[in-house]
Amino acid sequence: MPQIRTSRPAQGTKAKSAPVETDVRLDEGVILELKGLKTYFHLDEGTLKAVDGVDLPIREGKTLGIVGESGCGKSVTAQAIMRIVPKPGVVDGRMLLRLRKHGHIGSVVDLGKMGENSAEIRKIRGGEIAMIFQEPMKAFSPVHTIGNQITEAILLHNTPDPEEAEAIALDSFKKVGMSNPEQRLKEYPHQLSGGMRQRAMIAMALSCNPSILIADEPTTALDVTVQAQVLELINELKSSIGTSVVFITHDLGVIAEMADDVAVMYLGKVVEQTDVDTLFHGAVHPYTRALLGAIPTVTADEGRQRLLSIPGTVPFPMNLPTGCGFYSRCKHRDSERCMGEEIPLTEVAPGHKVRCRIAEGSVQPKAGY
Ligand SMILES: Nc1ncnc2c1ncn2[C@@H]1O[C@H](COP(=O)(O)OP(=O)(O)O)[C@@H](O)[C@H]1O
Ligand SMILES: [Mg+2]
Repeated sequence: MPQIRTSRPAQGTKAKSAPVETDVRLDEGVILELKGLKTYFHLDEGTLKAVDGVDLPIREGKTLGIVGESGCGKSVTAQAIMRIVPKPGVVDGRMLLRLRKHGHIGSVVDLGKMGENSAEIRKIRGGEIAMIFQEPMKAFSPVHTIGNQITEAILLHNTPDPEEAEAIALDSFKKVGMSNPEQRLKEYPHQLSGGMRQRAMIAMALSCNPSILIADEPTTALDVTVQAQVLELINELKSSIGTSVVFITHDLGVIAEMADDVAVMYLGKVVEQTDVDTLFHGAVHPYTRALLGAIPTVTADEGRQRLLSIPGTVPFPMNLPTGCGFYSRCKHRDSERCMGEEIPLTEVAPGHKVRCRIAEGSVQPKAGY
């Protein structure tokens, strides 16, 4: 994991207009680094720890896949980065971003220190970091044409010239393979098919030329063929523009196709972090191994996909005892070793980290591991 080095800026070089600029440096090749990121929802019934101390680097021009079952804190992590966590959520921790478009290019700002409606974060949202969702209707207003909405975003983040903005919008529609792009720009969101709306949302995200694209389950609602096209499109854009991608999914099959680096999340924590090859060929955490065993398989009888699920469910992240989050579902659990204390992330090989006593060597896995 890249180290953060502190360095003193030369006197008088700090711009007044960038109060959130920090003097911490990011390792070369890292564009965004999450450090101790937490997002808690303080509810009447207790504190719901949706994200609970996430440390992750996102590398320039690479895809970080975040994988885990529903409820593990993937979407809230994305919302925290964008500073769009709804109330009563409270975001804590550092999110260090290297600026590529605004302010002091190359300098590092802390998104965690920005106000949710501040001018700084509004420049970053859509400009430096764009996001696409599972449901594109969320990204568009139903009462304006798609073209108007995309052009408006481009005017905000890319160019003040309306004619140029329209040209960029049209170009982005062509890039994402929209059929009849001139006509589509004049249409309202409900007039497009699900797949076309997804393309339009990607076009809007990419028309502002962001340095990071966060994709939160962008293809889950699409049928298999359209899903494959959208994934291919994101990969093409990543290689042609060099955008870094944070790809969130519950599907390891999609991770295999998309990711360079992978973080497996469980109950708001990263439980395993490694490169994609090691994930598939050398996973250590029992949760990761269980997910790998739960990849959909084509059954011989009907040729249909069958999802083998992991026994049990993700516990509700409120008032949980201290210790391993996966304890209740783990075949290798050891009541002495696995509960009572926080389990640290252990580096088992360079760049491969695991939050499990098995990785520490203090618990022996049972047969069948
Ligand atoms: N706005 C909210 N208010 C309260 N709890 C929330 C809110 N959003 C998410 N959560 C809770 O935070 C946890 C993580 O949710 P989420 O990040 O959406 O999971 P994932 O995307 O991995 O399925 C879940 O327990 C969920 O119920
Ligand atoms: Mg989600």
